[in-house]
Amino acid sequence: MSKKVFVKTFGCQMNVYDSDKITDALKTIGYEKSENLNSANCFVLNTCHIRDKAKEKVYHEIGRVREAFINKSKPIVIVAGCVAQAENTEMLKREPYIDLVIGPQSYHKLNETILEFEKNKLKNEITDFDTIEKFNYLSKIQNKNSKVSSFLTIQEGCDKFCHFCVVPYTRGPEYSRPFHQIIDEAKIMVQNGSKEIILLGQNVNAYNFNEANKEFRLSDLIMSLEEIKGIKRIRYTTSHPRDMTKDLLECYKNSKKLMPFVHLPIQSGSNKILKLMNRKHKVEEYVSTFNYLKEINDKIEFSSDFIIGYPGEEAEDFDNTVKLIDMIKFINSFSFIFSARPGTTASKLKSIDEKISKERLKIIQEKLFGYQKLKNKSFENKYIDVLVENEIQGQNKLFGRNVYMNSVIFEGSKNLVGKIVKVRVTKTNQNTLVGELSEKNKFKAA
Ligand code: SAM
Ligand code: SF4
Ligand code: F3S
Repeated sequence: MSKKVFVKTFGCQMNVYDSDKITDALKTIGYEKSENLNSANCFVLNTCHIRDKAKEKVYHEIGRVREAFINKSKPIVIVAGCVAQAENTEMLKREPYIDLVIGPQSYHKLNETILEFEKNKLKNEITDFDTIEKFNYLSKIQNKNSKVSSFLTIQEGCDKFCHFCVVPYTRGPEYSRPFHQIIDEAKIMVQNGSKEIILLGQNVNAYNFNEANKEFRLSDLIMSLEEIKGIKRIRYTTSHPRDMTKDLLECYKNSKKLMPFVHLPIQSGSNKILKLMNRKHKVEEYVSTFNYLKEINDKIEFSSDFIIGYPGEEAEDFDNTVKLIDMIKFINSFSFIFSARPGTTASKLKSIDEKISKERLKIIQEKLFGYQKLKNKSFENKYIDVLVENEIQGQNKLFGRNVYMNSVIFEGSKNLVGKIVKVRVTKTNQNTLVGELSEKNKFKAA
């Protein structure tokens, strides 16, 4: 009987990519992926440490696994990801149900660690920063994943040290993968059926790989992926405003496959707060990037991340954030109340009143959701291009995304998966567009 692994993922897209790699790697030592926790012999929890309660969530999750296996033989329990990196040996001490703790830059050692554990049952913790070895190892693992839209990590870690953020500690220093390793991986993804590649990095636009005196940037990757025939759409995330360099902006003129949707976190509309956050950019620079791209193509839209109630945020700073939102009209953003993270500079600062933060978050979210709904409504009765990602189980419906990453649902047959089709939008809400296939596509599908 084959062994089964159940992987549960929290956090950002980079964790999603890592979980797929972990699953592929475990397959080579006999573990098949399972969608059912109850039948698993191995449980991997890929964790996120970005905001508070992350740690508690992990212990809570492990408690649920323990309950599920109360009358069965215990699975191997592995904590991976950013909480594993931050908490390391503490986790093994606090929760005896955990067997292995492994940080994001040590996944190349996961298989050998599991095999050892199977033999000697010795608990282990691995949290070295071996990013180069990790990618060298993982890029050799065969990938049969056939997702229409695939994540591809090109860059790891961060050297920017924003005062609120744990990423430089949990993911380590900035590292750019070799250019040709990435292109080769993209080609394999295309062979397996991918039509959209989403390039990933905590600072994806800081990508910088040097070889034989040539510097490769994110713009070089985009323009090279452009040449691969099977790729229909290219995206990248998450970028930093300071690294929106001219060569990258020019891609919006030169690439036909780069989507007109820019996720560019600003965090605050106040220069005072940006300085306190150590963000290394000003609001004016952000606005100038926005204006430049809008001039290239006025269909380009922006989304962002906001931190509300950062220590020192006064009413005037908050008003500036509101003004910025009214100016840019972001179409889909994330906003969170500041969360003090252990070990970061901002954790030592005096927090602002929680009640004020909550009120401000409510105002901001109403605004952001308002623009989001308005944008979605603007699609009603129009035809949009949708890349079909999958069939919705048990329904004769398809799921896909438009160029702005909106979810689109419509009736259609399975043979349209992987194709770009025209859909007339009939109904919208905050998160989804509902529509019907254009007559031409219906005919094609028949
Ligand atoms: N590298 C990206 C950038 O510089 O914009 C952000 C990556 S971070 C994984 C994703 C988002 O989490 C950030 O943009 C920020 O809004 C949010 N975040 C990070 N630390 C936070 C904290 N301590 N409290 C609240 N939100 C936080
Ligand atoms: Fe965190 Fe992004 Fe700042 Fe790096 S640039 S410290 S990942 S918020
Ligand atoms: Fe979370 Fe780590 Fe990503 S802290 S947001 S999983 S880089």
